[in-house]
Amino acid sequence: MDIPMDGAAALESLRVRVNRERCQGHARCVALAPELFELDAFGEAREIADGWISSALEGKAWLAKANCPELAIDIERAGDSA
Ligand code: F3S
Repeated sequence: MDIPMDGAAALESLRVRVNRERCQGHARCVALAPELFELDAFGEAREIADGWISSALEGKAWLAKANCPELAIDIERAGDSA
């Protein structure tokens, strides 16, 4: 069954992931997209909850990815192979 990518089906179609081996704690992601990222007790970022985001926050996800100097943020679309 095809799922239309509009309306409710478009929600949570993207997932952000922090590569914990690359993250050096610059915290730009948290500053730019606090809805999507948080720092752990060691000052390294992790995605909030399971990383699935609503389409309304897609822009912030790409902004955070573009501003991470360690290239530690990945963005996956639903259906992408892991
Ligand atoms: Fe880490 Fe990059 Fe954020 S280094 S704290 S994922 S800006």
